[in-house]
Amino acid sequence: MNAASFVLFGATGDLAKRKIYPALYNLFVDGKLSEGFSVVGLGRRAWSDETFQANVEQALYDFSRRKPADRGELARFVRAFRFQVLDIDRAEDYAQLRELVERRERELGLTPNRMFYLSVGPEYFGTIANHIEASGLGGADGWKRLVIEKPFGHDLASARALNAKLGETFAEEEIYRIDHYLGKPMVQKLELLQQSNPVLQALWSNHYIANVQITASETVGVETRAGYYDRAGAIRDMFQNHMLQLLMMLTAQLPKNSTAETVRFKKKKVMEALDPLQQGQVAASVVRGQYAAGAIAGVPVAGYADEPGIPAGSTNDTYVAARLTIDDAFWRGVPFYIRTGKRLQAKSTRIVIEFKPPLKQSGADAAQPPNLLIIDINPNETITLQLNARDTQDKARFRPLHLDLRDDAEETPEAYENLIGDALRGDATFFAHWDEVELSWRWVQPILEAFADGEVPLHPYEAGGHGPAAADALTARDGYRWWQGE
Ligand code: BG6
Repeated sequence: MNAASFVLFGATGDLAKRKIYPALYNLFVDGKLSEGFSVVGLGRRAWSDETFQANVEQALYDFSRRKPADRGELARFVRAFRFQVLDIDRAEDYAQLRELVERRERELGLTPNRMFYLSVGPEYFGTIANHIEASGLGGADGWKRLVIEKPFGHDLASARALNAKLGETFAEEEIYRIDHYLGKPMVQKLELLQQSNPVLQALWSNHYIANVQITASETVGVETRAGYYDRAGAIRDMFQNHMLQLLMMLTAQLPKNSTAETVRFKKKKVMEALDPLQQGQVAASVVRGQYAAGAIAGVPVAGYADEPGIPAGSTNDTYVAARLTIDDAFWRGVPFYIRTGKRLQAKSTRIVIEFKPPLKQSGADAAQPPNLLIIDINPNETITLQLNARDTQDKARFRPLHLDLRDDAEETPEAYENLIGDALRGDATFFAHWDEVELSWRWVQPILEAFADGEVPLHPYEAGGHGPAAADALTARDGYRWWQGE
């Protein structure tokens, strides 16, 4: 791995503590960070290096999948961390940052490769990128990379404006847009699932597949993010990015030896082939909902509108379901049903591929359940094939058999570990290219407008259930049903 400086904006924040420090630590333990790495954390709080290091250490005990066991190893890890107070708007602070980064490079004998990780609100991205350029931080002899988190824009126009702003100082190849769903091990496995399995490859098209269902359900509500979430809703928070990325990863026709370029190019092709929703027809293909009071695992919870910080009468969506179609040779005629929501019965991300029934199906056979390929992304990482067998007690009936396929690798790395490791190595395969982001916003834009114009009814749904019953109409109109938790 290239030795590099990791410059983290937002070092005192929640994401840093929950995800970034544990990811760096696990990369370190696995020998995937070079010994002489440097981390410079930036924030508004007046922390000393020692306070910063103590906070990093605590974050590992609290959030790392591997708790630190070896004091010596832990000490070698945290001694790489330095802190500087930074006001995002002050040029002098960036000059000082440059001195610190350069001093650490000299002390550690590092090539001036610099990864700038922006774990801050998107409203600061442009300012920080400009200061990085103006201060000379980005002008060193090594490489420079910018890692950013979502949300990447609020709609198509703001996403374009943000991209243009970043483009003034960073080239597309230097920008790593994190979509943490792309870091999930099972999502990364999708890349090769079909090409490396002739059994699946033979079935992977509209000849054999009846429909595909992609569900990301959560039990949590809005939590402490009312200000952000009430403006974003499920459509921007999950659908425009994570859900459409899952769709792309599943359906892209990737060559066996794909590179970052081919993967991203083929994903872009999927987005280009996605049939656009016509204005005035959004309500026929999209269902939106908002959770009402109910209970999660027997514990009563408030409805969305009664959550702290949510304005009374908010019409924000906490659930979205949509029917999509892809107009290409492989997928034409196969409906894709995608849904995501908060305060649902279970925390689960899964893809269900329903196969068509045999051609000649009659009599008792007509009652045979379809074959399903179920890909569980979270919380379990399993692939299940549902097949039919004859019921030995009642020979006229079928009994579904479940073939569970589990990866025996003991410990899988977390999404952020995969992604930060990839960004440090310069592998952009599992980062969202601007083309994908722009096409996703373009596809979602008519939905945003229809929501804003009140064209799509907002269905209340009881917390702890499966979401609004209205979503059943999406599948029923094609003669299908949602697979809930088979
Ligand atoms: C984030 C959303 O991107 O993804 C959150 O902002 C959501 O609202 C989270 O809870 C879900 O991620 P995961 O990995 O828990 O499925």
